[in-house]
Amino acid sequence: MPDLPLVLMTHTLPPDWLASLEGKCWILKGPVDATVMEPTLYEYLPEAQALFTLLTIPIGEKEISQAPNLRVVSNMAVGVDNIDISACTRRGIPVGNTPGVLTEGTADLTMALLLAAARGLPQASLDAREGRWKTWSPTGWLGMDLNGATLGIVGMGKIGRAVAKRAAGFGMRLLFCDPQAPEDPIAEKRSFEDVLRESDFISLHLPLNAETRHLMDQKAFESMKPEAILVNASRGPVVDTDALYQTLRDKRIAGAALDVTDPEPLPPDHPLYKLPNCLIVPHIGSATRNTRRRMAELACENLLAGLQGKRLPNCVNPEVYA
Ligand code: GLV
Repeated sequence: MPDLPLVLMTHTLPPDWLASLEGKCWILKGPVDATVMEPTLYEYLPEAQALFTLLTIPIGEKEISQAPNLRVVSNMAVGVDNIDISACTRRGIPVGNTPGVLTEGTADLTMALLLAAARGLPQASLDAREGRWKTWSPTGWLGMDLNGATLGIVGMGKIGRAVAKRAAGFGMRLLFCDPQAPEDPIAEKRSFEDVLRESDFISLHLPLNAETRHLMDQKAFESMKPEAILVNASRGPVVDTDALYQTLRDKRIAGAALDVTDPEPLPPDHPLYKLPNCLIVPHIGSATRNTRRRMAELACENLLAGLQGKRLPNCVNPEVYA
């Protein structure tokens, strides 16, 4: 089968997730936990016709310019901030992503973070394990109610709306800001400043780009209520980490629950881990068996369409078809 196209896959994934590629291409894979593109994969860039990437591997001008035969880049993620989209577009290379299939999983994790932070679950669990649970304490482990509290959703795309639906079920009042989103039947559209000022919980659901980088900076934190909690399940750099650290350290807001950080992974000795009002999990928003399989399958569909010269089912730079 020497004339099958060559696909470079930055990581090794379970074979059954990739079943649709069988017999249609040669796949050269990087290791399961690759954090950079393997040198052997680099060597094959000149022959590669497709790249299958995960969000941890940056694909920039350097990689794209070495791959003159590339017909598609397929990212197994909804976010594509790891890929230089303009470099791909300039060369007419479509870039695929995996929206939709991870909406519900990520919204579930957002609610888990919100609830865990509101009720102080990490500390309560530790106290139980470590023998500090002496009695049913009327004043111990007191948290915040979701019912009646205001949730401000920053970024009202698919995931933001899925979070709104869940939060409405908890009796929360909902505000959102997103200049591109239409009015919403269950959430009030407001300015970013209003959302910061009025919310008891703020949840970020934005793509990372030049406009959203450090959107949550010192000034934004200063506008939040002192009893408010920030949840981030979008991208780490949407939050200015130093500003967040100082804000939490000085207890100028009540807490934060982060699925994503900047840098990522956050090094084990990072001071944020030492703060009891900061809950951090390792970017697991889409980490359910079902969701990850569906993301891989969708990434395969995009990849095959690109190899066959067809329009990708989910393309982030449709201008390549103009
Ligand atoms: C996960 O973070 C994704 O972008 O799919």
